Amino acid sequence: SGQRKFFVGGNWKMNGDKASIDGIVSFMKGPLSPNTEVVVGCPQCYLMYTRQNMPDNVGVAAQNCYKSAKGAFTGEISPGMIKDLGCEWVILGHSERRHVFNEPDQLISEKVGHALESGMKVIPCIGEKLDEREGNRTEEVVFAQMKALLPNISDWSRVVIAYEPVWAIGTGKTATPDQAQEVHAKLRQWLRKNVNDQVADSTRIIYGGSVSPSNCEELAKKGDIDGFLVGGASLKPDFVKIINARG
Ligand code: G3P
Repeated sequence: SGQRKFFVGGNWKMNGDKASIDGIVSFMKGPLSPNTEVVVGCPQCYLMYTRQNMPDNVGVAAQNCYKSAKGAFTGEISPGMIKDLGCEWVILGHSERRHVFNEPDQLISEKVGHALESGMKVIPCIGEKLDEREGNRTEEVVFAQMKALLPNISDWSRVVIAYEPVWAIGTGKTATPDQAQEVHAKLRQWLRKNVNDQVADSTRIIYGGSVSPSNCEELAKKGDIDGFLVGGASLKPDFVKIINARG
């Protein structure tokens, strides 16, 4: 893991207002470990406010965007617009986009492709549901999600893969460090086989799903866990402990 910089993203989901963002901005002054790359994913309408107020060492991500640059797509925003506000990152294919808003693999893949072509850095999210894990289908599901992404990934250096088992999201039921490590190692093997050694060795694979100040240190010790995507805990001052989990 030496060549991969530890990466911690906060995903605020549909939470926050200007007043609470002011509070997050103050605790994000840290101090944050210089060994961690840090990004916060905020609601689209607060991207500009967040970028203007957040310290420069914290990246800002949108939580979604469309697959075209502009046009008749009411309610959507483009990667170009996000970049125009000074934000470099976008989270795509989050479990809630897949399962609440029914986004299919193909659409997510095209969004990832367009965001990368637009010069953005992308956090594509993958992960199995509870019945899939219980049916021993975890590997099959996450590999199929990776396969769908592959043709549209033109530059792996701007991709951070988030593995978020759906059963662990917002449930307080974290994958154990061994459970998470097992899937991360398989994903890295998949990259070695389907892309190449350089991409397998350098791509950050981060874990999401009930990461907290109390479980982050054990997870961060695992060799293939290169950081976290944090929901609920990213809204609270202890998020800094998660950012600094690996020191
Ligand atoms: O994207 C992060 C997320 O889905 C995990 O949410 O609240 O379980 O940390 P949470």
